[in-house]
Order: sequence, then structure tokens, then C-alpha cells
Amino acid sequence: MTSLDALVRSDEYPRAAKYDPQWMVDNCMGPNPLWLLEDLSRDCTFRPGMKVLDLGCGLGMTSIFLAREYGVEVWASELWIPAEENAARFEQAGVGDQVHAVRAEAHDLPFASEQFDAILSVDSYHYFGTDDLYLGYISEFLKTGGRLSIAVPSLHRELRELGGAPAHLRSGAGWEVLSFHTPEWWRFQWEQTGLVQVIASRAQPGGWLDWKLWCEVCAEHSPNEPVRQNSRATIPMLDTDRGELLTFALVTGQKDGSVR
Ligand SMILES: C[S@@+](CC[C@H](N)C(=O)[O-])C[C@H]1O[C@@H](n2cnc3c(N)ncnc32)[C@H](O)[C@@H]1O
Repeated sequence: MTSLDALVRSDEYPRAAKYDPQWMVDNCMGPNPLWLLEDLSRDCTFRPGMKVLDLGCGLGMTSIFLAREYGVEVWASELWIPAEENAARFEQAGVGDQVHAVRAEAHDLPFASEQFDAILSVDSYHYFGTDDLYLGYISEFLKTGGRLSIAVPSLHRELRELGGAPAHLRSGAGWEVLSFHTPEWWRFQWEQTGLVQVIASRAQPGGWLDWKLWCEVCAEHSPNEPVRQNSRATIPMLDTDRGELLTFALVTGQKDGSVR
């Protein structure tokens, strides 16, 4: 039995360690987004008052974290979860005046050109952002000099190089594993557009261990049966892989206004 206290990791993730572990588990939709965001925030600076788009925010944990930790104003944009549900969560967390819940598809965003100082996306961007043309669309909403930062499940080698997805990845992640890429793949994709300068594109060295610990805790402590099942199903994939291929990529680009 893995206890909830295993999620309080003050050395590695001091900011996330301040949040109630059961609250984190209750709002789980995938790997722990607060750990990913805390690591990602080394590459993107948040200052009070900045306008930040949280793209694919799920149940809004990252939006609450951004508002509380950095004093930024957040547009919490999300497809699967109704905006009213997220708005109620933001009120309850005491950040209702700082975080705006929006329901939108990632290709049809109701925002103005250059509205945001930063755009962030944790465990969501791979659902839509592997499209070669997507960076051109999303960067329109970013001010020149602003940063786009994403955390996504990732691989140490491209599946093409391996001749296809190994069985453990297929059984653990299904065909959607095709959306997992190396940090080098992301760097190339973004750099080639000339739309952003890539500040960092790095693999989390212990990403698979974080993922496994999180799944173990969610498998036991989530109140949501599909989340418990999904967590249980992910653990064998991580155990077989042992970090050989699987990790998370943290990618940050800064908008270069000279390219149109
Ligand atoms: C695994 S959940 C992660 C949610 C949250 N970021 C987290 O880490 O807890 C993936 C998210 O991607 C969003 N998403 C997937 N496809 C999308 C699309 N086409 N447009 C906008 N959001 C999308 C979903 O709404 C969902 O919340």
C-alpha cells in the first residue's frame, strides 16, 4: 500500500508539496500536473499580473497553482470538462477572481491576438499539438517575447527508429502512443518554423519514477473507478519499460516576432 504522504516531496517539488495529496489525487486526469508544472517553471518565468493561458487544464489544478503560486491571471481553457464545473472549483479554491474558466477546442480558441504573456499546457498538447501547423495557430495568441511551455509524455527514441511501438507501450498506451515524441523531435518541429526560439527541450531523467509513484497512489486512493483502473493499467507498462523509453518532455519556446 503506497500512502498519500509519498506524494509530499518537499525536496524535489517544494511548491507542490504544500498541496493536499488527497486533493491532487481527487483531481487526477493523468500524471501529476503540479510536479510537471513545477519543473517546467524553471524554463518560463511567471510574474504577478501576467496573463497566462492554461491550455487543456483538465480539472484546473495547474490553473489554481499558477494563480496561487505566482499571482498571475489565468484563462483555464478546457475541452472535456464543462466551464461551470471548473469555475466552481476555482471559487472553492479562493481564486475565482483570478482564474477564468473557458470551454474550447484547441483549434477554435475564443481569445484575441497577442492576448497572453505566456501559454502553458501540461499533459494536453500532444492531443492536438503534433500537427505541423498548430504552432502557427497557437503562437498568434502569444505576445512577442512571450513563452509557450509544454509538458508531454515522451520517449527517449522515436518509434520510427524502433520499427514501431514495442508491445508494452501498445498495451499500456494504445495507438495513441504515436503522439509521444522525443524532446529532440519537439525542438526540431518548433525551431524549423522560425516562429519561436527554443529555450529548452529536455527529458525528465526520473520522469517514469514520478509517473509510477503517482499511478500507485491514484490506483489506491482515487475516489474515481476509471482513474483507479487506468492507473493500475499504466503501472505494468512503466515497470516493463523502466525508463528505457518513457519519460516526460518539457519544452519551452519564446515567440520571435520577426517571423510571419
Ligand atoms: C490527460 S488530460 C490532462 C488534463 C490536465 N492538464 C491535467 O494534467 O490534469 C488531457 C486534456 O487535454 C484536453 N484536450 C484533449 N484534446 C483537446 C482538444 N482537441 N482541444 C482542447 N483540449 C483538448 C482535454 O480536455 C483534457 O483535459
